[in-house]
Amino acid sequence: MWLGIDIGTGGSRALLVDVTGRVVAAHTVAHEDMAQAQPLWAEQRPENWWDAAVEAIRGVLAASGVSGSQVQGIGLSGQMHGLVILDEANQVIRPSLIWCDQRSQVQVDWVNSTVGKAKVLECIANPVLTGFTLPKLLWVRDNEPALYERVRKVLLPKDYVRFRLTGEFATEVSDASGTALFDVVNRRWSFELADAVGVDRAVLPACYESSEISGRITAEVAALTGLAAGTPVVGGGGDQAASAVGNGIVAPGIVSCTLGTSGVVFAHMEQVQYDAAGRVHTFCHAVKNKWHVMGVTQGAGLSLQWFRNQLAPGADYSDLMAEAATAPAGSQGLYWLPYLMGERTPHLDATARGGWMGLTNSHRRADLIRSLIEGVSYSQKDCLDIVEGLGVEVASVRASGGGAKSPFWRQVLADVFAKPVVTLESQEGSALGAALLAMVGTGEFADVPEVCGAVIRENARVEPGADVGVYAAGHRVYQGLYPALKGVLG
Ligand code: XUL
Repeated sequence: MWLGIDIGTGGSRALLVDVTGRVVAAHTVAHEDMAQAQPLWAEQRPENWWDAAVEAIRGVLAASGVSGSQVQGIGLSGQMHGLVILDEANQVIRPSLIWCDQRSQVQVDWVNSTVGKAKVLECIANPVLTGFTLPKLLWVRDNEPALYERVRKVLLPKDYVRFRLTGEFATEVSDASGTALFDVVNRRWSFELADAVGVDRAVLPACYESSEISGRITAEVAALTGLAAGTPVVGGGGDQAASAVGNGIVAPGIVSCTLGTSGVVFAHMEQVQYDAAGRVHTFCHAVKNKWHVMGVTQGAGLSLQWFRNQLAPGADYSDLMAEAATAPAGSQGLYWLPYLMGERTPHLDATARGGWMGLTNSHRRADLIRSLIEGVSYSQKDCLDIVEGLGVEVASVRASGGGAKSPFWRQVLADVFAKPVVTLESQEGSALGAALLAMVGTGEFADVPEVCGAVIRENARVEPGADVGVYAAGHRVYQGLYPALKGVLG
């Protein structure tokens, strides 16, 4: 039996798989909501992730009746880019600035002017973005110098949980790629960039390939969780790379679209390739010596969550989807810009703002909801177009994440992408991918493509339908809105 643990934004999920890769049991524990003291700020408490992870592990063991000694290996996955800083006593210094926090534009500009954009690209194969870890660390340096003085270790969210599980300071190549301190081409820290921006090399943890063993469960954690002391914990992956493993995106030609809080279009790459404008990220894959490219919509599921929380409190997502399906394709000319937390692909603009455009007195709530689904899908199409522009051939798109559970949204995606959209037998994504990485790391399978080939099966396929033309025209209008509005709100 193998355990995958995903430290998401909404919650932590623990999942057990057997030797055939079948999911035996899973247990999720919700996190505290992210704290947003100012617009575009987003923080969570690492200690809350740890408590949720412990409860999730206990919950999955209890639900399955599996004993800790039957668990042969553990894999971690987690929300990427978050900044966790520890002091001399290994205590968390302040809440984590998480992936969608957008406060660090000043620090991004500082890195670009101090180091130079071309040099940055040479060091890390990507531009520095507000979402990434380095500018968040520099924000603490600039705004909370007394806290910065105390920083002894910098960890990513799942790697803080790894530290609590094993006592090891470690990460792995896929998540490290999103720190803006990682030499993606050579799969090691960019000490050159760290030195150039004055980040002490010693704060960076050890870095492994995703299926390598990074540490073992301590006796103290064994007593706390029911796991066995000494159980190996493999590197695992950032949630997107781990989800790609769980979706079998481990060879050229298959692309995924994961609709969680964020929305991500992800493609495997045999060789490193960049978008010259940096609109998609080029990161190390969780597959040894392979890379991936991904485009990110910041406010995918978040758009729906925002709508429900603010305008339909207590409503079920499935009811909202059913209501949306009663509106016509194109939402009667209503467009949603999903830039609730700025935008990454394609705009790379922390100041982008969301909104509806095209409202008339005839619009009903169903149009509003449908336009959210369509706007997020248009944004994912922007990502897909750039990925295809890099020469990636896309025969079909594998959809996963909360949004892909809706057959209605899957049909909209197929129509907007003008590609078949496929779902898999297991919809688990990241936590499953983490468990599969543990199966490889403990020698059950030779490598990641082998385990994916053995356990991942497609089960449903949606073909593009009659609305492809409506959406092709709609996408063109959508693409005109951001440039038309840019700068108007300051
Ligand atoms: C990926 C990204 C998000 C987070 C949260 O670059 O920022 O997908 O990992 O899921």
